[in-house]
Amino acid sequence: MAETPDTASQLARGEERGKRAERLWARAMTAIILALVGLVVFTSAHWGWHPPSQLETIDPTSLHQSGEFSEGNLGTLIAPDGSAVVRVVAQQYAFVPSCVLVPAGVPVTMRVASADVVHGFLIQGTNVNAMVVPGYVTTVRTSFPESGEHLMPCHEFCSVGHQGMWARVRVVDAAKFPSADAKVKGVSCAG
Ligand code: CUA
Repeated sequence: MAETPDTASQLARGEERGKRAERLWARAMTAIILALVGLVVFTSAHWGWHPPSQLETIDPTSLHQSGEFSEGNLGTLIAPDGSAVVRVVAQQYAFVPSCVLVPAGVPVTMRVASADVVHGFLIQGTNVNAMVVPGYVTTVRTSFPESGEHLMPCHEFCSVGHQGMWARVRVVDAAKFPSADAKVKGVSCAG
């Protein structure tokens, strides 16, 4: 069939409409991507999100025997500058210690290692929310402005006992914190 001037102009119109739609979609996609990137930047800056930072490795099979995560080291140690370092082992189906004691109003570094499978932990009412992958040390920095108690459940399904795996975080006045022991041996509120 020969192209009459009529069909030619119809084709041109169709092409123009197609291009317009394409431009519209391209603009919409760019706007969505920019909005999502903006959202990530905003939440990171505003809520103190922690991207995964598991660069430190550790042998999960010998955690308890020696080194940083041996029994006497677990719990909270106060550094010379007054900040707190909390060491916790996550294992099926408990956190050790099961009650973490921290002073209020000081920088707290949580260091958590798994002795078996992947666990997760979050501290309710705070920005702490991380995964604990065997073989790596999960480090999260936070602080607790007020004294009180927070729940710290495992939020990564880790087999049949998962729902019973949780700990507490007890925040006490920095003045009431048992700092004498905390320089040599980790302290906790686990009974
Ligand atoms: Cu540990 Cu779920």
